[in-house]
Amino acid sequence: MYKLFFRLVFQRMDPEKAHYLAFRWIRLAVRIPALRTFVAAALAPRHEELRTQAFGLRMHGPFGLAAGFDKNAVAIDGMTMLGFDHVEIGTVTGEPQPGNPKKRLFRLVQDRALINRMGFNNEGSLAVAARLASRTPVFRTVVGVNIGKTKVVPEEEAVLDYVKSTERLASYADYLVVNVSSPNTPGLRSLQAVDQLRPLLSAVREAADRTVTTRRVPLLVKIAPDLADEDVDAVADLAVELGLDGIIATNTTIARDGLGLTSEAGLVKETGGLSGAPLKARSLEVLRRLYARVGDRITLVGVGGVENAEDAWQRILAGATLVQGYSAFVYEGPFWARAIHKGLAARLRTSPYATLADAVGADVRKTA
Ligand SMILES: Cc1cc2nc3c(=O)[nH]c(=O)nc-3n(C[C@H](O)[C@H](O)[C@H](O)COP(=O)(O)O)c2cc1C
Repeated sequence: MYKLFFRLVFQRMDPEKAHYLAFRWIRLAVRIPALRTFVAAALAPRHEELRTQAFGLRMHGPFGLAAGFDKNAVAIDGMTMLGFDHVEIGTVTGEPQPGNPKKRLFRLVQDRALINRMGFNNEGSLAVAARLASRTPVFRTVVGVNIGKTKVVPEEEAVLDYVKSTERLASYADYLVVNVSSPNTPGLRSLQAVDQLRPLLSAVREAADRTVTTRRVPLLVKIAPDLADEDVDAVADLAVELGLDGIIATNTTIARDGLGLTSEAGLVKETGGLSGAPLKARSLEVLRRLYARVGDRITLVGVGGVENAEDAWQRILAGATLVQGYSAFVYEGPFWARAIHKGLAARLRTSPYATLADAVGADVRKTA
């Protein structure tokens, strides 16, 4: 049904316009009590056996919405209604910014992929904090807040910009993510180098602790799939050293070669981060590497090219406690999270593992 609708309607529209149209429908549906109850019952049925705990937070399941879909925290209830177990909002920057000129989002339908160079278009930390402060949740969920650097802020002042966002947003964050891996803000990814990352993460940790004194806000870092293996190891070691709560692997890739892309060359050549199916192998590889390095000391979140329940299950076996997705939602539609939950529950039932937590990293432990 959705696939036909996608071909007939969304595929003929500009991808960014289609995104906002879908967004409007989701936000509208959630405002109508009878409709949202009906949709949630249909799309977000709960599977007891998938209940998940990550960095001290209890969730209905392991599968969440990756950052970038709800940049301004306007659809948390809507996405929960569609079955996501957590919603990561953002990336939010210290100051509001329009992002890159349009056109900046491209569909590579044949490759089940997207390329985006949105450039952190968002309303900024003040406006998003105000929205979160005034929010009356309809559904219980876990809200992650993903922060990044304002484009006009010079690299030497990056830490201050992240600290500003932290001070404004930490109170509303069930967990906080330092995004240093988007390819569309010049210089951002160089913050992944350990000598830059250490002071950044320490400053954000301190700011979060100063701002929120009643609990410890879990702090995660999100990394790029384009890091060399030694750099992945270095980030893993730093995360352990700093007592970080989690690592999200991975963001989009700037790579194009060797990914078997079959879409039209002009599209493939668009500047930006590639996400979806072609990212699957590298994201999984980075996750596996991280788990081999940090084991259960740090919670890992697997994202990048997750399309179905089998992909989500493979991430869990490779070490992910939580799994996220974005691009496949565009292609699979509103029944996506439901299908993933159903498939995960079935896999767990026929697996040798008593709980989902037992399955986390099982494949890597086997080969260790
Ligand atoms: C249009 C678009 C915008 C994105 N914006 C962000 C963002 O603002 N912050 C971020 O951390 N990741 C962002 N991402 C990356 C996703 O969160 C995710 O890491 C990546 O797309 C890989 O997952 P996927 O293959 O399931 O899409 C964005 C992805 C897309 C497709």
